[in-house]
Amino acid sequence: MRIIVYCFSGTGNTKWVCERLAAELKTLGHTAELFSLTADFCPPPANGYDGVVVGYPVHAFNAPAPVLKFLKKLPAAHKYLPVWLVRTSGEPLRLNEAAGISPKRILKKKGYAVRGEFHYVMPYNIIFRHSDGMAARMKGAAEKVLPRHAALISAGKGELYKNGAFRRVVSFALRVEHPAMPLIGRRFKATEKCVGCGKCAAVCPQGNIKMIGGRPQFGKNCAACMACSFHCPQDAVKISLLNGWRVNGPYTFEGEPAADADVCRYCRKSYLRYFHKMEE
Ligand SMILES: Cc1cc2nc3c(=O)[nH]c(=O)nc-3n(C[C@H](O)[C@H](O)[C@H](O)COP(=O)(O)O)c2cc1C
Ligand code: SF4
Ligand code: SF4
Repeated sequence: MRIIVYCFSGTGNTKWVCERLAAELKTLGHTAELFSLTADFCPPPANGYDGVVVGYPVHAFNAPAPVLKFLKKLPAAHKYLPVWLVRTSGEPLRLNEAAGISPKRILKKKGYAVRGEFHYVMPYNIIFRHSDGMAARMKGAAEKVLPRHAALISAGKGELYKNGAFRRVVSFALRVEHPAMPLIGRRFKATEKCVGCGKCAAVCPQGNIKMIGGRPQFGKNCAACMACSFHCPQDAVKISLLNGWRVNGPYTFEGEPAADADVCRYCRKSYLRYFHKMEE
């Protein structure tokens, strides 16, 4: 099979999962080509491939706005082309499964066949910083299940999540993030700690940051991916209303994975359920 992997990732979690999945598909003898979804690059259409993977992080129980925009522009499938959705989220709540609703609806309308949804819990890039142990356990759990997911793709199989009325309503209501973020993002600012290195501008997938006079200026195309504030070496990016939830600095994913007793107290039951399912 020749598989195309479209991936939107702000802080690298989804990209890592997509890269690992592509590597597993290659070990099964398939071709897997990964394209990052950024505002300044138009990846090739999916027709001509035998399968499609679309990777994205959950943003407020939805797919990020640039992912929906990209899927809406994707040409209709010439045939019943199989698609697998790959998601990462910071918490293991089942409500996150609602982030598949809009992508599935858009793809189905265009003649694609969504065969499966794979969900990976990866460390938060907003709200709070997970411990190194939690991050290491999340990565280990994903590593464990990735070969199984690649095998399902290889066999043309997968599982789809069902979303009831409650999830649909919550997800629809929180899609307010899509029009709100460009407004909030315009108010992002670099503090006096900024050294003008330009890293925030380099990592922004939306091309939303321009360096003017050695300082970043934020435009009106923010998609709330958090790459700028997460990767700033000086922790100098203030993210306006969301500043109290800022998480700065890449996770190393090194060290001892958290034991059950050390799993964070927030959503503890759900994390344990997730880890035990992935690690079995
Ligand atoms: C604006 C925003 C909204 C988010 N909303 C959710 C959410 O609703 N549920 C969740 O579990 N994680 C949420 N997250 C956390 C990310 O989904 C998670 O950290 C993801 O792995 C980040 O992937 P990336 O590194 O590929 O961008 C949110 C992150 C951001 C930046
Ligand atoms: S990454 Fe941080 S230090 Fe570098 S230019 Fe951006 S705000 Fe300034
Ligand atoms: S401005 Fe920051 S949060 Fe907004 S899209 Fe760019 S990198 Fe992401």
